[in-house]
Amino acid sequence: MPNVVDAMTERLLADAGLRTGMRVLNVGCGSGFVSLMAARLVGESGQVLGIDRSAAPLKTAEELAAREGLSNTRFERRDLADAGGAGEFDAVIGRRVLLYQPDPVKAIRQAIAPLRRGGIAVFQEHDATPLSPWQVPLPLHQQAHQWLWDTVTREGANMHMGYELAGTVSKAGLTLQHVRAEAIVQTPEISYPTHEIVRAVLPRIVQESIATEEQVDIDTLGDRLREERVRTGATYLGELVFGVWGTK
Ligand SMILES: C[S@@+](CC[C@H](N)C(=O)[O-])C[C@H]1O[C@@H](n2cnc3c(N)ncnc32)[C@H](O)[C@@H]1O
Repeated sequence: MPNVVDAMTERLLADAGLRTGMRVLNVGCGSGFVSLMAARLVGESGQVLGIDRSAAPLKTAEELAAREGLSNTRFERRDLADAGGAGEFDAVIGRRVLLYQPDPVKAIRQAIAPLRRGGIAVFQEHDATPLSPWQVPLPLHQQAHQWLWDTVTREGANMHMGYELAGTVSKAGLTLQHVRAEAIVQTPEISYPTHEIVRAVLPRIVQESIATEEQVDIDTLGDRLREERVRTGATYLGELVFGVWGTK
């Protein structure tokens, strides 16, 4: 996960009020990056439980937590539908997990089942609604993002979960306290590793017949993206990252 998005997540968690001593449940924790951020915020007197339905990323999460020597963080293989049996928490947090839920309102209700009354729920989701380049067209940037969004959409994800996030949180019965949207911005000097994300997703892009390996030409994609920004001098807004928190 690129650092610019991690920085957004860290700010969101801190602004939402995660602090020393809290018990935090991270739903759909994946490889544990968000769990580790929470662990640093709650300190040794707090606790973090990361849950995910997939075994492979949990192994990475455990290794990362061990490497940081975090004794307040543990991980369990568990669907968020089973969150209710996981204990009682002061905060429930989730990043890029609601987009995969067929019924995100129900998923939030399940995720916050173990949240104490007055506790905080924090969610962060991306949105692929195109942000038109203002200065000049940037066709390769738009194409690269479209490959990613089309692939994830074809796999059943809702790439407009960001715009739907605030409404979904309210429908799930939380009292919405805050909503924000930040953009992933690139300039000739400041890049975002779009080509590395495309590289990681390439087998799925090809499998879903979104593009061929020849069309993507992954080994030159990073250079071609940079060349497009340098040649035009343009600023590109790739996607919006929405953050919300609400109370139970
Ligand atoms: C895009 S990854 C995000 C991982 C992590 N939250 C992050 O931002 O680094 C989505 C994760 O959600 C998990 N997931 C999706 N639906 C889930 C569910 N119903 N219960 C538990 N985990 C789920 C997937 O297994 C995957 O690890």
